[in-house]
Amino acid sequence: MKKKVLIIGSGGREHALAWKLQQSPQVGQLYVAPGNAGTKEWNVSIPVNDLAALADFAQREQIDLTVVGPEEPLCLGIVNLFRAKGLRVFGPTGEAAQLEGSKSFAKSVMDAAKVPTAQWKVFERADTAKEYIRQIGAPCVVKADGLAAGKGVVVAQDVAQAEQAVDAILAGSFGDAGSRIVIEECLQGQEVSLLCFTDGRACYPMVPVQDHKRALDGDQGLNTGGMGTYTPPPFWSKKLQTKVLTQIVEPTLREMRRAGTPFAGVLYVGLMITEQGPKVLEYNARFGDPETQVIMARLKSDLFPVLWACTEQTLSTVAIEWREEVAVCVVMAAPGYPQAYPKRIPLHIPEVASAAGVVFHAGTAWDDESGCVSDGGRVLGVTATGKTLTEARMNAYVLVEKIGFPGAHFRWDIGVKGLGSIQTYFK
Ligand code: AMP
Ligand code: GLY
Repeated sequence: MKKKVLIIGSGGREHALAWKLQQSPQVGQLYVAPGNAGTKEWNVSIPVNDLAALADFAQREQIDLTVVGPEEPLCLGIVNLFRAKGLRVFGPTGEAAQLEGSKSFAKSVMDAAKVPTAQWKVFERADTAKEYIRQIGAPCVVKADGLAAGKGVVVAQDVAQAEQAVDAILAGSFGDAGSRIVIEECLQGQEVSLLCFTDGRACYPMVPVQDHKRALDGDQGLNTGGMGTYTPPPFWSKKLQTKVLTQIVEPTLREMRRAGTPFAGVLYVGLMITEQGPKVLEYNARFGDPETQVIMARLKSDLFPVLWACTEQTLSTVAIEWREEVAVCVVMAAPGYPQAYPKRIPLHIPEVASAAGVVFHAGTAWDDESGCVSDGGRVLGVTATGKTLTEARMNAYVLVEKIGFPGAHFRWDIGVKGLGSIQTYFK
C-alpha cells in the first residue's frame, strides 16, 4: 500500500521535500499545508500554527506520515499532539525542539554535553548585559533568546553597536523572543551546517552545506534567513566530519536522552570551523532553508524510508547514498528583502528541461488571474548541480537569468567562497 504523506510548511524547503518525496515509489498521495505555488497540486490551506486543524486533517485523511518543516509548529508541540492522537510524525517533541526555540537552553545543553561553543552568558536586564559587553569588548554577538526567524542575531563590531542591539532586543523588536538576551564571544572561521537525520539514538549525517546569510555579495549587508547554499564546501573532510559527529552531534543526542527529552528528526548543527576546531554556533531542530534544496538535489536514495525509520527507531538499518556532484541554490528574493518588500510581483518561471536544474518555490502564491506571484521575502530557490562547483554555479545562474522576476534581489557570489577569494571571480 502506498503511503499518504503530509508536509507542513510553505517554503523552499517544503517544495524541495515534496519534490523528493513524490519521486518515491512508496509515496502515494502527497499533501502540503499550506504550501506555495510550486506545490499547488498538493496544497491544503491550513496554516502551520493551527495544530488542531492539522491534526484533524491528518486523522480524517488517514495520513501515514507527517513531516514538519518549520520551527514554529515544532516548538508549539505539534509532535506531542500528533503522537497523542496516534499519528506518525517526523520531527522532535516541543521539549526537544527547545534546542532551537531557546538559545539559552541550547547553550546549557552544550555545556552539559561538553560540546565546544562560543563562551556565553544570558541576561534579562540591559544594565547588566551592557556591563558584560564593556567587560568582554567587541567584536561580540548579541542574540535574542527565542525564535526570531534567523534575524535575532547581531554580530557587533564595536561596543556601541552591541549596546544598541541590547536595547533593540529588550525594547521588543523581536516580540517575546527578546525578553532574554544571550551575549557570546565572536568566533572566526568558515561557517558550515551539518544536518543529521536521527531517531534519537542513531544518527546519519547529510552532506555538509555552506549558507550565505548576509543580504549582499561579499557577505555584506544585513543577516537574512539565507541567500543561497552550496554543497560540499572544499574544506570539509572525513576527519572533520568524524570530529563533528563524535565531539558534537553524538554528545548532544546523548545529553538529550539523559535529560529525558530525546531528540528525533533533523538535528541541524550550525558550525564555525575555528583554528581550535569546530564549534557550535546554533542548533536548529529541523531541515534548513535553503540548505534542504541542495541536500535534496544530491540525495540519491529514497527519502521516504529514511524519514519513516526515524519515527520507528530503526535508522541504523537504513543506508543512504549521495550523488557525487556539487549542488548550488541561488535564492531570488523580493526587492528590499530582508527589510520591507513588495508582494504580488508577477513571476515567469520557464519549464526547466535540464535534469541539472530545478526551481524551488518559496514565497510564491498562485492567483487564478495573475498566475504565479511573489508572496514573501525569499521567493525562489534556483537549484542546479554539476560535476564541479564552477559548473554547478554556471547551471544555476543560467537558470536565474531565464526567470522573469522584475526587481529580483539575489547574490551573484553563491559558492564563490568555495572557489577561492571573491576578487579572483569578479572581472
Ligand atoms: P544563529 O541564528 O545563532 O545561527 O546566528 C546567525 C548568524 O550569526 C550565524 O549564522 C553566524 O553567521 C552569526 N553568528 C552567530 N553566533 C556567532 C558567534 N558566536 N560568532 C560569530 N558569528 C556568529
Ligand atoms: N538557512 C538557515 C536556517 O534554515 O535556519
